[in-house]
Amino acid sequence: MAETSGGSSAHGYKTIVYIICMVAALGGLLFGLDQGFIANSLDTLTQHYKFGIHDKESYSAILATGGIFGALLSGIFARFLGRKKSLVLAGFIFTAASAFSALLPPLPVLSACRFALGFGVGIASFIVPLYLSETAPAAIRGSMGTLFQLMITIGIFLIALSNVFIARAFADPRTSLPLMFLTITLFAALMFAGSFILPESPRWLMLKGRKDMAVAVLRKTLGTQEEIDSEIGEIEEALHGPQGAGIGIIFRGYFFKVLVIGVLLQMFQQLVGINMMIYYSPTIFGYAGMTGLVAMMAVPTVNMLFTFPAILWVEKWGRKKLLYVGAIAMIITMLAAGFAFQSIGNVSDPSLIGGAPKALLLISVIIYIFGFAVSWGPVVWLVCSEIFTLEVREVGITNTTMFNCNFAVLVMN
Ligand code: BGC
Repeated sequence: MAETSGGSSAHGYKTIVYIICMVAALGGLLFGLDQGFIANSLDTLTQHYKFGIHDKESYSAILATGGIFGALLSGIFARFLGRKKSLVLAGFIFTAASAFSALLPPLPVLSACRFALGFGVGIASFIVPLYLSETAPAAIRGSMGTLFQLMITIGIFLIALSNVFIARAFADPRTSLPLMFLTITLFAALMFAGSFILPESPRWLMLKGRKDMAVAVLRKTLGTQEEIDSEIGEIEEALHGPQGAGIGIIFRGYFFKVLVIGVLLQMFQQLVGINMMIYYSPTIFGYAGMTGLVAMMAVPTVNMLFTFPAILWVEKWGRKKLLYVGAIAMIITMLAAGFAFQSIGNVSDPSLIGGAPKALLLISVIIYIFGFAVSWGPVVWLVCSEIFTLEVREVGITNTTMFNCNFAVLVMN
């Protein structure tokens, strides 16, 4: 990015935009930390809480159940509290629920905390992509939109790594489990504190008729008066666009068509089975006799690393092409992984499993994760934050995000 004087880039926006977007995207990091928590903590949780199979599944899935409620109420929070205060609220919930979990309360209370964390995830999944798409200048809107997904994958990676090391360093779950939860608390507190310094979304301010405040925010982020005028003009046009306002919009053909597209995208993003891999890849590799660091870290590492190029590709190739490429890669590799797993399942002693099916399983899982990371992961959140006009954005994203969480619950159970 070429810099001009005063922290302004050659594209007409200021460097502070990146800081604002990074702070807001911490909501994505918390999503990832909570989502990825399960994979390498299941054994420790099981030791302390004497989890049976059913407990494991319900503790894992309750995050997504909380997400449904968080997403359901987010539209109301976003409209009435504003985008910024909703982020503050999510930060508070993340901090309180993870700190409380670190006290190792009885299982029903621990589960209630995970539900609350899910509630925070539901709010963050709604607000962060929305805030990024409304606050980032047009030139980098796509890239900043994918930042949400990048932060999710960084969160999943970080917690997988720290949980592995904590579990290895401290054998007693009464020490290791609080440390695992405190890792989340640390980042949650950072997000909570950081969200206070964020400016409000100029689009929300305009929606509330506070044009002066919207201009003041744009003055902080955009380089020239011309840019500010053009952005204000664009928002005004969106506000008074052909769709108009009011509840009647829901029944109009255009909105409904767009909503169906968003819902289907979110539904399939979960139905491809990504969270089965995110939660259970160490367990799946364990069945195949692979228990080392590679088995524990392969999925989160590949997932994170390939989200970086996706940020560029989403602008260069466009959203649709990436979705096709990712879907094809996932279909082929899921079939290959199933084939490898079938031959592994026929061997009763893991030490007798041959190198070929193990290698096929590992390689197909890695390419599958690559397929998701460069396409359905980032593109779905981005598209859902872009397709609705300003007036119906809250109701549209509420519904699409709820479908993400609904189908996550379905897949996890
Ligand atoms: C999905 C999550 C998933 C994550 C993996 C997100 O886009 O919504 O369910 O765990 O990607 O990176």
